[in-house]
Amino acid sequence: MQKPLSEYNSIVVLTGAGVSAESGLKTFRDNNGLWEGHDVSEVATPEAFEINPALVHSFYNARRNQLLEEAKPNLAHKSLSRFEAEFNGGFTLITQNVDNLHEQAGSQNVIHMHGELLQVRCINTGIVFQWTEDLTTQTHCPCCKIAGSLRPNIVWFGEIPMHMHEIEEALSHCDLFVSIGTSGNVYPAAGFVQLANAMGATTLELNLEPSLTQSAFAFAHYGPATEIVPSYFSI
Ligand code: OAD
Repeated sequence: MQKPLSEYNSIVVLTGAGVSAESGLKTFRDNNGLWEGHDVSEVATPEAFEINPALVHSFYNARRNQLLEEAKPNLAHKSLSRFEAEFNGGFTLITQNVDNLHEQAGSQNVIHMHGELLQVRCINTGIVFQWTEDLTTQTHCPCCKIAGSLRPNIVWFGEIPMHMHEIEEALSHCDLFVSIGTSGNVYPAAGFVQLANAMGATTLELNLEPSLTQSAFAFAHYGPATEIVPSYFSI
């Protein structure tokens, strides 16, 4: 039996593509998911960017445009931001998502461990810029002025996720860890439940269906994020 949410001191939430699915953004591995139409090695690795930057840019330009033109936060994003505002204890929201729907819904402290679609980074200086335009191999970087030196500020396969120190710190102090809308395919995020368990936290999975790491969670509720997240995160 779980305690009421108000009795926890420090809550860490991890979200994945499933939280944005009902906002119209495709997940990666579901039927008709993003990776089904693309070879990951051709659009989401540093090698892909070296070999065919135009293809990589067109993949992320499409994602960025869809986010800017179509996607709106749904009830799952909104209920998490409302909960953060009302909860008296510590609350850390870690997302694997590169969209900004948590921020659009009003969440204050969002840790984007896989980067952000609305940012680009100079490969020469490492400087990050907010970015809403299409990126091409001809785009000049605002800092080094060299054409083609900007890349999406996204963590590609083979690269190290961002903010890991901050994330491990939050996980090591939480007494509740909730994983929402993620398949458990990609590490290190898929291993956060084990870390939370080792620290003695209660662990809960909220997902459409059991994830690959389902057995590591003490509790689980299954259904669409827009139903199960608001129903769980109501104080
Ligand atoms: P996946 O596409 O692997 O998994 C999405 C999960 O969301 C699945 O378990 C679905 O069952 C669930 N889901 C789908 N629709 C849902 C809904 N309406 N409500 C609740 N759950 C739903 O996406 P992630 O686990 O987020 O990384 O993928 C992790 C990482 O793999 C991504 O961040 C991305 C990708 O490669 C990078 O690009 C670095």
